[in-house]
Amino acid sequence: LDNGLLRQPPMGWLTWQRFRCVTNCQEDPDTCISENLIRTQAQLLVQGGYLAAGYEYIIIDDCWLSTARAPNGSLQPDSKRFPSGIRALADYVHSLGLKLGIYEDYGTETCGGYPGSLGHLEQDAKTFADWTVDYLKLDGCYADIKDFDTGYPAMEHALNATGFPIAFSCSWPAYQEFSKMKPNYTAIAQTCNLWRNWDDIDDSWESVYTILQWFGDNQDRLSPFHGPGHWNDPDMIVVGNYGLSPGQSRAQMALWSIMAAPLILSVDLRTISSWARDIILNKNLIAINQDPLGAMGRRILQLNDHVEIWSKPLLDDRVAFVALYPEPYGTPIHLSVNLTDLGLIRYQDYNFFESFYGSFLGKYHYTDKYNFTINPSGDVHAFYVESATPRKRFHKNLQKI
Ligand code: DGJ
Repeated sequence: LDNGLLRQPPMGWLTWQRFRCVTNCQEDPDTCISENLIRTQAQLLVQGGYLAAGYEYIIIDDCWLSTARAPNGSLQPDSKRFPSGIRALADYVHSLGLKLGIYEDYGTETCGGYPGSLGHLEQDAKTFADWTVDYLKLDGCYADIKDFDTGYPAMEHALNATGFPIAFSCSWPAYQEFSKMKPNYTAIAQTCNLWRNWDDIDDSWESVYTILQWFGDNQDRLSPFHGPGHWNDPDMIVVGNYGLSPGQSRAQMALWSIMAAPLILSVDLRTISSWARDIILNKNLIAINQDPLGAMGRRILQLNDHVEIWSKPLLDDRVAFVALYPEPYGTPIHLSVNLTDLGLIRYQDYNFFESFYGSFLGKYHYTDKYNFTINPSGDVHAFYVESATPRKRFHKNLQKI
């Protein structure tokens, strides 16, 4: 969507994966969906250095609404859990330098059973703008998915008409892909800043790996529509929760960076371990994810033992790679690939660097092989390459003869 927003993949934090639809604040005062939870996590996004690293959106997913609309038909939050209202919460979040996101649904109800936007698109868009909400995730439960092709553009139109800049996250293709309809990605990329294509992510390696494979299998269809202002979304980063080992956490972060995927965390920042935090805050991986070219990385090689290599072109002729070893076979695996099989075919030498730490790995010629090792059970070897002999740049004012 060409609204000037999200020229790089969005980075932020979202309630859903970690906090789901916990609404009983008596039983779960610290984890129920409430303004307290959002305020606390917002503070930690700042204090923990996440905002400084680029994680700027804090997004409330499902289950924030009151079960009924106000008498004038407008949306209202649950008054017990959001007693100050969304505008006050937005003001607070903005005072910290963050942006606020919120969730609604195109259909009659949200997936969690709260009032949906159908029949109220314009009114709801105005409400979000009045509240100074910066990002809307519009889900697709309780709706006829055939209506999405006109319904999501109608919501985009309504948002645009408010004059307030609101990034637009759509679930439009996810429901259509699941029903084996062919989503119109040209229209989707014109309407949405990002869109969920596939399954909800869960806190497990199986879930992360299955989603990754779906994106690899469908990359030819999806990558042409991926770029500044319009992003495919394989769903949240689940690093820091209960399900992923350190290696698998490195893998998700490295692979989501290669895919130029939205980096939307869903983790309790009060209890996150320091190793998980370090992975999430890794500067080099974030730079690969946020690279201005905005290219969606691709799975370029599949080797023995289900090892696969993904690559992503970066600005200035650099290329990032991630090799993943998903099998739990105990010992690290040693691999050797031809540079030409990595697509590195230039005559000039290449410098190789490890991506997590930026350490120099050596100089290689296109006729060489690159040897490396990956730990098992879903770990990765991440590296990037650049030309060892930078090409001469022509002076801007060079006179043409
Ligand atoms: C389905 C979406 O795909 C999830 O990300 C989440 O928003 C839930 N609905 C909320 O009900």
